[in-house]
Amino acid sequence: MTEAGSILIVDDEAVALRNLERVMSKAGYRVTAVQSSEEALTLLEKQEFNLLLTDLRMEKVDGMRLLKTCRELHPDSEVIMITGFASAQTAVDAMKQGAFYYITKPFRLDEVRKVVAEAMEKIRLRNENRSLKQQIEALQDQVKIVTQDDGMLSLLSLARQIAPTDCNVLVVGESGTGKELFARYLHQHSTRNSGPYVAVNCGAFSKDLLANELFGHEKDAFTGAHSQKKGLIETASGGSLFLDEVTEMSPEMQVKLLRVIQEKEVLRLGATQPVKVDIRVIAATNHDLAEAVRSGVLRQDLYFRLNVVTLAIPPLAQRKGDIPLLAQYFLQKYAVQMKKTLNNIAPDVLEILQRYDYPGNVRELENIIARGCAVSSGDRIELAHLSEDMRQQGGITLPGKGETMPTLEQQEKTYIRWVLNELGGNQTAAANALGINRSSLWRKLKGYQDAQ
Ligand SMILES: Nc1ncnc2c1ncn2[C@@H]1O[C@H](COP(=O)(O)OP(=O)(O)OP(=O)(O)O)[C@@H](O)[C@H]1O
Ligand SMILES: [Mg+2]
Repeated sequence: MTEAGSILIVDDEAVALRNLERVMSKAGYRVTAVQSSEEALTLLEKQEFNLLLTDLRMEKVDGMRLLKTCRELHPDSEVIMITGFASAQTAVDAMKQGAFYYITKPFRLDEVRKVVAEAMEKIRLRNENRSLKQQIEALQDQVKIVTQDDGMLSLLSLARQIAPTDCNVLVVGESGTGKELFARYLHQHSTRNSGPYVAVNCGAFSKDLLANELFGHEKDAFTGAHSQKKGLIETASGGSLFLDEVTEMSPEMQVKLLRVIQEKEVLRLGATQPVKVDIRVIAATNHDLAEAVRSGVLRQDLYFRLNVVTLAIPPLAQRKGDIPLLAQYFLQKYAVQMKKTLNNIAPDVLEILQRYDYPGNVRELENIIARGCAVSSGDRIELAHLSEDMRQQGGITLPGKGETMPTLEQQEKTYIRWVLNELGGNQTAAANALGINRSSLWRKLKGYQDAQ
C-alpha cells in the first residue's frame, strides 16, 4: 500500500475501543472506530477497509457475523478477531472462516500492533504481486507489428498519431496483411486502452443474428428472448469496437450503425429508450470500398463516417524486405510455442520465401514458418520442411553452374504481375501490352491463384 492502510475497529467496550483507536492512529493507519456492531455492519456494506479488527462477543451482531460479511463483500480485506476468553473452539472457528489471526483478551497493545502490521504486510505483498502480474500480462498482450519497410513505418507512425484521438478509422488491405493487428494496435495506443476491445466479424453472422449480437434485445423482444441481452456495441462502450468485413452488413444494419455513430446511442431490439454509448469504431475490409459505395453495397454516408482516416496496408509482395524479418520473428514465436531449439532458416529456404508472392500475405508466411517449425527436428528450417508447392517455387540450377535461376513459368508469372502492376491493375491494358487476349490473361492469373 502506498498510502496508510485503513482499519475498522469494532468493540462494544468503550475503554478497549479507545485504546485500540489511539494505538492504531499513532501507528499511522487511517482508523475508523465504532462501538456499535450494527453500525459496523452498515459501514462494511458501504465501504472497504484493508483490515477489520473486531471483538467477538457483542450484542445484536457478533464478531463472527462481521467476519463473514467482510469476507464475502471484501475478499481482499483481512480480519483480526479479539476474543474475550481463550476459547480454543472460537479461535478455530474464526480461522476457518478466514480470519487472519485471533487475539485473546486481555491483550498487550504491542502484540496487537505486531499482528496488525503483519496483516498489512500480507495485503501489501498481495497487491504488489497482483500489479506485477498485471504489468506482465499487459506486456505479453502488447501488439507487435514487425516491419522495416518505410511505407509500413509511416503507417505505424500515423496509427500512433491518430490512436489517441477518437476519430473512426478504416483499415483496408488484402486478406492476411494485418488489419486486425492494426486495429488492436490502435486500441492499445488510444486513451481507451483500459476499456474493452470488442471485435465483431460482420460476415460471420446472418442478418438477424448480427442485429441481435450488435444491438442486444429487451426481454420478450422476440420469441425466445427470455431475458434482456446487452449488445456488443454496449459492451464496447468506453473502448473500441472493431467491425471486420464491414461491407457484409445489410442495408438496414448500416442505417442502425450510422445512428449509433451519429447519436452515440444504441436502441436494443424491442426497446423504446436508447442507451448512451461511448465507442470508437475501427472498421476493416479487404474490398474496394469506393467500389462498394458505387455499386450500392455500402451507404455513402456510413462510408464517410467510418472513413475519417484510412490506413491502407500494402500486400506483403510489395514489401518483400519484410519477409526475412517476419520469417525470423515467426520462427522465434513458434520455436517457443512448440518448445523447439530452432533458431535459423536455411539460405535456400529464405531465397524461396523471398521470391514467393504471398496471395495470403503475412498470414500465409506465418503458416509456412509454423509448418516448417512443426516438421523440423533440428535447429534450422530446411528445404525439406517446406510443402511440395513451396519447394517448386525454388527454380532451376543449370548443370555445372551453381546459380539458381527461376523457371520459365516463374519468370512469366513475375513478368505478367509486373506489367499488371505498372498498369494499375487494368487487365485489358495489361493483356494488350503483353500481346495476349484478355481471357488468356485472366486464365493465367486464375491459375496462379489456384496454385497457391
Ligand atoms: N507486421 C506484422 N508483424 C507481426 N505479425 C503480423 C504482421 N502482420 C500480420 N501479422 C500476423 O499475421 C496474421 C494475420 O493478420 P491479421 O489477422 O491482422 O490479418 P487481416 O488483415 O485481419 O486478415 P483477414 O483479412 O483475413 O481478416 C496474424 O497472426 C498476425 O498476428
Ligand atoms: Mg482480419
